[in-house]
Amino acid sequence: MRDVAIIGAYTTVFGELWEKSLRDTAVEAGVGAIEDANVAGEEIDAMYVGNMSGGKFVGQEHIGALVADYAAGLAREFHIPSTRVEAACASGGLALRQAIMAVSSGFHDVVIAAGAEKMTDIDGTGVTDALAAAADREWEGIMGATFPGLYAMIARYHMHKYGTTSEQLASVAVKNHDNGVHNPIAQFRNKITIDQVLRSSKVADPLRLLDCSPVTDGAAAVVVVPADIAKKYTDTPIYVKASSQASDTISLDDRRDIATLDASVFAGKWAFEMAKLTPKDIDFVEVHDCFTIAEICAIEDLGFFKKGDGGRASYDGDTRIGGKIAVNPSGGLKACGHPVGATGIKQACEAVYQLRGEAGKRQVPNAKYAMTHNVGGSGATCAVHIFSNER
Ligand code: COA
Repeated sequence: MRDVAIIGAYTTVFGELWEKSLRDTAVEAGVGAIEDANVAGEEIDAMYVGNMSGGKFVGQEHIGALVADYAAGLAREFHIPSTRVEAACASGGLALRQAIMAVSSGFHDVVIAAGAEKMTDIDGTGVTDALAAAADREWEGIMGATFPGLYAMIARYHMHKYGTTSEQLASVAVKNHDNGVHNPIAQFRNKITIDQVLRSSKVADPLRLLDCSPVTDGAAAVVVVPADIAKKYTDTPIYVKASSQASDTISLDDRRDIATLDASVFAGKWAFEMAKLTPKDIDFVEVHDCFTIAEICAIEDLGFFKKGDGGRASYDGDTRIGGKIAVNPSGGLKACGHPVGATGIKQACEAVYQLRGEAGKRQVPNAKYAMTHNVGGSGATCAVHIFSNER
């Protein structure tokens, strides 16, 4: 296996992008990453594009070919292989992993990993139904379970088992909005209070509107190369120290404990083993906070806090920038928004910006090691990556 580095990154603005199509955002991200990496179109060997549900959101399938067609002549001039990767909300994380494996194995040298989703062209009912397809349609969807509903059950059980409170859940959203204020790509750049979260309308008890990530358009891309040639393109390559992926049962009812996402537990454990690091070594982590309870489960399942202590840690400020471990310095899915196929790549872009020291007012001081954690569905898939600015 060869060591791998990221040499370019770009995230579009996330939000309700009425004036842009799926292809517009994907191409903006791809071209932005290529320019950031200083690579020429003819040097690119392959592309992987994370996209969850182009068919349901905009009536477009065959996304790999679509993006290559419109990005820097990758299809028309260079005819590179371009592959769509789908794993629900973890599509981006898995696209990145495919790119890393392609470069690490020696199969390709310069590979783009991108993610894109356009969710706001259909109404809320359509979005909820498309997202519900990431759960078990026969055992969960058919009973009326939606994603907020499934995570509400996880939250309710976490509260029952560990005494986690609504205020503790709310503190996750408050912290992520505080961080998102300083992120120019974030969908929501406003501060909120615990009281506002607790007074926002109920979506699926105990989760309220401000416990939820929103519905979002956006795209992101990175360029991956062998570490040995990275300095040919940039003075600040970001090295991939670990890439892992794990699976779990698709429906919640089959889990040993619905307040624990075993895919996160295993992907995290394998990533730490691969990087020869422990949670104490990580300076910040971008976790998949599709709902506030998801961030609490993630920081426990990845080993940053003991099981059941995530709510207390969040409320006490341990997860703020400057706290024990900075969690979601970007603002996370809550404040940045969650264009499902793009999120895993946007998390990697945040790792790149932070590790290069380019994150402005949300900069984690002296960051050396970053982790990203991207979950598909209610935890049937999880991708974890560790990055560093030192080889
Ligand atoms: N956080 C903060 N504000 C939000 C928000 C959120 N998550 N979602 C919507 N809003 C705001 C909108 O900006 C809008 O504000 P405005 O009136 O000032 O313009 C207002 O709330 C109403 O927005 P609307 O789009 O009508 O909300 P909705 O009720 O249709 O949808 C949710 C709200 C929570 C149901 C929707 O965002 C949702 O389904 N989120 C979860 C997505 C999901 O499951 N992702 C996959 C996870 S694995």
